[in-house]
Amino acid sequence: MPLAFDVLEEGFGAEIQGLRETDSLGPALVDELRKGLADFGVLLIRNEEITPERLVQLGNAFGELEILPEPEKRHPDHPEIFNLSNLRDDGQVVDYEEPQSVFLRGTERWHTDSSFRNIPCLCTMLYAVEVPENGGETQFANMIAALEGLPSDLREVVNQNRLVHSYVFSRANNPGRMDPMSPEEEAKYPPVTHPWVRTHADGRQSLYMGGHVSHVEGMDVNEGRELVELVLQEATRPEFIYEHRWADNDLVIWDNRSTLHRLRPYDISNTRRVMRRITVAGTEPVI
Ligand code: OGA
Ligand code: MN
Repeated sequence: MPLAFDVLEEGFGAEIQGLRETDSLGPALVDELRKGLADFGVLLIRNEEITPERLVQLGNAFGELEILPEPEKRHPDHPEIFNLSNLRDDGQVVDYEEPQSVFLRGTERWHTDSSFRNIPCLCTMLYAVEVPENGGETQFANMIAALEGLPSDLREVVNQNRLVHSYVFSRANNPGRMDPMSPEEEAKYPPVTHPWVRTHADGRQSLYMGGHVSHVEGMDVNEGRELVELVLQEATRPEFIYEHRWADNDLVIWDNRSTLHRLRPYDISNTRRVMRRITVAGTEPVI
């Protein structure tokens, strides 16, 4: 039976009906999922218990999985799974200022995952194990619509420029103190540049930017950052956004090629938020 995609927000985001834990992920189903991802940007499966094994299997259906920087956050049995949780190893909720909290709060900036790589990822899958009653939503912004809606002067700017993305930069700009990265880990993530406007396989174009951007290539750093800020403000207007309010056992898959996302604040040092994340690698450079 083909999958049904119920649109969440005018033309952006869709809830998938009809995918069950036991379904084998054959090529026809995977094609449908891939197409759904490109068409809707964000896919949601509600109320489905997904084991770590099944999560890895779902990810592998889309492609190879990335291993993220920050080794201590990897799932002990599945290094591809990233434990995105505000619980320490001892099960206690983090303090607001400690590095684990700072790292998580860093995702409250609009960004697209792994844009600091030469070949950035395709999509991220985030599975909710335990979520707060208030706050902790994730917002997604449609960068295809945002590019179309950009005023013509800014459209010219984005068409003519490339952005420098850097993990070391964005990590250093987290909202607080982080443990230093080892020089070996740091050396794995030199700055990269991508066009500000990304062209997709189907010919559509979108803005490609976000929190890993350090500056505009070849432009005065401050002048460039001001432009980035201006474009970001335009690109994240409410009409381009789907906000996901999580329930336990929700799975959200988002297309990092054509969307930005951010975590909304929650009471991080008092309320538990436990998520499992996997990231599917991309296969070609940004053009
Ligand atoms: C991330 C991220 C958002 C969230 O893990 O990259 O942006 O809602 N997470 O936890
Ligand atoms: Mn992210």
